[in-house]
Amino acid sequence: MEQYAIRGGNPLVGEVEIGGAKNAALPILAASTMTDETVYIDNIPDVRDINVLLDAMENIGVLIKRTDRHKVVLNAGNIGNVVLEDEALKKIRSSYYLVGALLGKYKHAEVVLPGGCDIGSRPIDQHIKGFRALGATVTIEHGLIKAKAERLVGNHIYMDVSSVGATINVMMAATMAEGMTIIENAAKEPHVVDLANFLNSMGANIKGAGTDVIRIKGVVKLHGTEYTVIPDQIEAGTFMFAAAVTKGDVTVKNVIPKHLESITAKLLEIGCEVEETDDCIRVVASKPLQHTHVKTLPYPGFPTDMQPQIAVALALSEGTSIVTESIFENRFKYVDELTRMGASIKVEGNTAIITGVDKYTGASISAPDLRAGAALVIAALAAEGTSTVDDIKYIQRGYEDFHLKLQSLGAQIELVQTEKDFRKFKLRTG
Ligand code: EPZ
Repeated sequence: MEQYAIRGGNPLVGEVEIGGAKNAALPILAASTMTDETVYIDNIPDVRDINVLLDAMENIGVLIKRTDRHKVVLNAGNIGNVVLEDEALKKIRSSYYLVGALLGKYKHAEVVLPGGCDIGSRPIDQHIKGFRALGATVTIEHGLIKAKAERLVGNHIYMDVSSVGATINVMMAATMAEGMTIIENAAKEPHVVDLANFLNSMGANIKGAGTDVIRIKGVVKLHGTEYTVIPDQIEAGTFMFAAAVTKGDVTVKNVIPKHLESITAKLLEIGCEVEETDDCIRVVASKPLQHTHVKTLPYPGFPTDMQPQIAVALALSEGTSIVTESIFENRFKYVDELTRMGASIKVEGNTAIITGVDKYTGASISAPDLRAGAALVIAALAAEGTSTVDDIKYIQRGYEDFHLKLQSLGAQIELVQTEKDFRKFKLRTG
């Protein structure tokens, strides 16, 4: 069984290259099925969720060539099937993006219901409402979402909640619908904007992505394109907080600082120094960390995908902090694990009350989901002594070469397979 062995105590120091955004690349790959022409996509992260989606797309006849680790060439001109029942697809959230994409182009899609991280109930009512508003019949049968339409016709759609997934899915379906679709209360996350830019580069007519109101004028056909995915806001934020937690000095490279504003603001509040240049951000943590309060919100608010990472920093800060999770109700599952390392956190409903402690101590812990897993690794890097982190398959869903990038910053972390590997690691690291 793979696990990370970590010897804590080294401040992370150096520069780290940030990869392409998983949550932008996933819908972009799905949307590349909407043209018969060839699509070239660069800056695709080599992570498990992406690879599962690519395998499923290959199974329905999309020709896919990885020309290097981060570049793919796709041609969906010969799709033979719009029914996707792959077992592996059940495990990822983004499988449902194939519904929006295939419904948009072929007016028919049947895809297994999505899984993804267990961070709370994850309804898809807004996706279904949007597809229906465009004229599709949508049913859920035998574990599949089935969406079918004679024709799709633009409509005015008001999202009851700001949902990244629903905004993206409805945007894709509406791209080739007849007439104008207006999505109100749309999600504004950078990956929503990136997908709109990608679709526009294929000939779509989408305006307003990044604001509350997206206007999509349907087009008959999309063409091939070359596109580079934006940098991963959450991977960057994770390394920025790793610098804070380990009292380090880390520069994240190839980022869009604008996308990281809410994260930078919190790092400044807790006493870190942050320097921005065009596409780099340096975080230096030379003073004791201070407490603060934070509430997760849709973009441009503080991201729910950064909530465990900031909590790990606040639990080592002076004073009492309050973290409110307003997006997903089950995102405090890391608290028990962090408590085993010495943190003092009380969860009441969607709020965690954190009393700062002086240090963490190493322990055997498990990653409960992707972001919480990454946060626990960071905690272990700051802890006194050795830790092991199990269930790293969750972390590998969304972080490429996580342990290697951390090693390059001076972390003592290794991927170990056996008890013997672990003993060797302990001998080496003291
Ligand atoms: C995306 O999930 C991301 N996943 C998540 O990242 C991220 O946490 C989340 O957006 C919020 O930013 C991908 O992009 C693949 P939502 P998604 O629809 O689209 C409610 C990670 O770690 N809702 O924006 O599933 C929902 O319950 C992952 O990379 C409805 O009520 O999130 C939640 O409270 C984890 N009905 C809120 O909206 C719906 O039909 C926001 O969810 C849809 C959503």
